[in-house]
Amino acid sequence: MLKVLVLGSAAGGGSPQWNCNSRVSQTVRNGKVGTSPRTQSSIAVTANGEDWVLFNASPDLGSQILNNKQMHPNRGLRHSPISSVVLTNGDVDHVAGLLTLRERQNLSLYAHKRVHSVLKENSIFNVLNPDYVDRRELQMNEKFEIKSKEGKGVDIEIEAFEVPGKIALWLEDESKGINFGTEEGDTIGLKIHSSNEDKSFFYIPACAKMTDKLANRIRGSKVILFDGTLWKNDEMASTKVGEKTGQRMGHMNNSGDDGSMRAFEDLDVKRKIFIHINTTNPILLGDSEERKIVEGNGWEVSYDGMEIEI
Ligand code: MLT
Ligand code: MN
Repeated sequence: MLKVLVLGSAAGGGSPQWNCNSRVSQTVRNGKVGTSPRTQSSIAVTANGEDWVLFNASPDLGSQILNNKQMHPNRGLRHSPISSVVLTNGDVDHVAGLLTLRERQNLSLYAHKRVHSVLKENSIFNVLNPDYVDRRELQMNEKFEIKSKEGKGVDIEIEAFEVPGKIALWLEDESKGINFGTEEGDTIGLKIHSSNEDKSFFYIPACAKMTDKLANRIRGSKVILFDGTLWKNDEMASTKVGEKTGQRMGHMNNSGDDGSMRAFEDLDVKRKIFIHINTTNPILLGDSEERKIVEGNGWEVSYDGMEIEI
């Protein structure tokens, strides 16, 4: 088996976002049929039904664990089925949940060295006591087995690779020019495999551009969970909640000639699922035109609690 549980399908801020009254946030908050709240970006994966690997640790992790019984302790007084955590970047929506994982629990924590150095510089993450949490550097373009803190395999292998993106918002440095100090490895994608079966899928919650290299990598794949942040590049401005474009934030839009739906058109990916979706994106509304368009193009819109059997 290779099973994905979507813990959080929304982008940073969640949906509804606490301070937002745009169309989607308001509709979700009012509980309209066909809409549902979404927490911030994270998935859990198992290949044996017992050990789970968390991909990104969302600020909502506490409630995500509570709301998904697969994540509950089930062996003895102190236990968690979460053996390891893998980070795809240093965004708040992907690292703040690490603070929820304190309390003397053995974990292995995998991230690119850029992200590890940021965690190291921020002493609040010292709550992840090194006696219990083993920080391991992710090598790029190399398939390897995820292991628990104690060195036990969990039947999952991953391959990490750099994708076009941006340094985390809270680390942007304007003095470093138009890319704010972004370097290779600030945003990565993952191919996640079962060690025992020929099953795999891609998880790429942030991606600024489809390159030939990335297209060749994912061509013909069975399942992909891909950056669904915005419907269009100027969505923050057109919904009057901000000015930043998707490109400025390191995210491809879903629609348009430069969008992900077009980029995937000839890639023969069997199951395409949007994840990390911003609360301004109308595809979150079950009855929107935009939802019809993405579904008409063969895309699914992930939701919290969604289970995907690879
Ligand atoms: C993003 O994906 O653009 C970030 O999560 C934004 C943020 O940190 O709020
Ligand atoms: Mn994010």
